Amino acid sequence: MIRLIDSSFNNRVSIDLDGIDMPLFAHVYGCSLDYSAEPFWMRYASPFGSLTFSRFLYKKYPDFTKGVAEYLNGLFKSKIKFYHESVNIFYTEGDIVPHRDESGRVSSINIGLKNSDVAITSYSPTNTLVRYHEDKVDFQCVDGATYLLNTSNIHAVSGPRGVCRYMITYSLGIEYATVLDMLKQDLNGN
Ligand SMILES: [Fe+2]
Repeated sequence: MIRLIDSSFNNRVSIDLDGIDMPLFAHVYGCSLDYSAEPFWMRYASPFGSLTFSRFLYKKYPDFTKGVAEYLNGLFKSKIKFYHESVNIFYTEGDIVPHRDESGRVSSINIGLKNSDVAITSYSPTNTLVRYHEDKVDFQCVDGATYLLNTSNIHAVSGPRGVCRYMITYSLGIEYATVLDMLKQDLNGN
């Protein structure tokens, strides 16, 4: 599942995406992160496309990550505490095959940063690969808007080759429905 949760982020903090200079590594399953490491890109690639996450972005762009965390803390009115050290960026290119996220990433908050509307994010309404392509629900993001995604539910991305689609991302170990309830309580004035 994916849904729009806010449209007020816009460009309150910005980052020069073309100027980000960090080494790129290919992801190897089972390898752990070195938390003393300098910032880097971690790429998950397939023959159909790639997904590239920043790691430790805050070490190089603290103003940006602090601005994002401040925005998220305001959005959730401190029901969830967001730490700027956990704010990262990913970009996709081409197709990302149906999957569930790993490393305890149960849900995530994604904010459209650049070219976020060039691809379609899809999910399985039954959280299964059976009849995935027949039953999938399609969703299109836009830049400057904030989304909640159930990353423990099977999802995929379909996009063009040669165009990088950037999103800010914050991984949560909290279930999608619980996060959504926290936001709904705010809407009800609780
Ligand atoms: Fe994913």
